[in-house]
Amino acid sequence: MIILIGSNKGGSGKTTIACNLAVALAKNGNDVCLVDADRQGSAAKWHQEREAGEITPSITLVQKYDNLTKTMQSLDDKFSHIIVDVAGRNSREMITAATVADMIIAPHQCSQLDLDTLGELQEQIIRVMDLNPDLKVFIYQTMASTNVQVIENERQDFKAYVAEFPEFKALQSSGRYRKIYRDVMSDGLSVLETSNKQAIDEVTALYGEIFSHG
Ligand SMILES: Nc1ncnc2c1ncn2[C@@H]1O[C@H](COP(=O)(O)OP(=O)(O)OP(=O)(O)O)[C@@H](O)[C@H]1O
Ligand SMILES: [Mg+2]
Repeated sequence: MIILIGSNKGGSGKTTIACNLAVALAKNGNDVCLVDADRQGSAAKWHQEREAGEITPSITLVQKYDNLTKTMQSLDDKFSHIIVDVAGRNSREMITAATVADMIIAPHQCSQLDLDTLGELQEQIIRVMDLNPDLKVFIYQTMASTNVQVIENERQDFKAYVAEFPEFKALQSSGRYRKIYRDVMSDGLSVLETSNKQAIDEVTALYGEIFSHG
């Protein structure tokens, strides 16, 4: 199964989600390969730290740029799950991976600047679906407010905005803004490998929701 973590917005939390999901899959006994297709190499740096710290489960990482189609297909024969992290823009890597992916998880904050990029994503997806009609696209709310006064309104706004796009589905699970997500990345860890129950619950809920969609 090929899962592309992609959106047209930089800094929306793609790499963070890619690394956390890779660990969630590995911890659940899956044979996972993390593909870093962003020349910035953030996932590769995270992986380097993980290897240096001899943290288990160890994750296989592949760096590949430009046209990802053939690499994805051959990795799909070797691994049960492939998580692809791409750059935050309309990249060749995102389009070529999308043509062979089973699903796209597109993290977005509930901010107009983030949600404004959904129209561009929709145009890309409509074209990609000509080649890959079974592609599923899920929008994941990231870095949601932790302020109880605004959580619910923000969530309703997010869901209403995503509902305008028939090609997309808003995931029920969401992630809040938590420092722990930042802190663990430089150590090559997932929040699942900390004692932060709230962050663990968020990643566990995302994992459960994505993989029950099949
Ligand atoms: N839930 C969260 N709470 C707090 N900070 C977060 C959260 N998720 C990600 N971040 C932080 O936000 C920043 C952007 O996240 P990340 O690098 O994962 O985004 P990205 O979409 O991969 O960015 P790029 O488009 O540059 O590849 C990082 O500093 C990361 O540590
Ligand atoms: Mg990134």
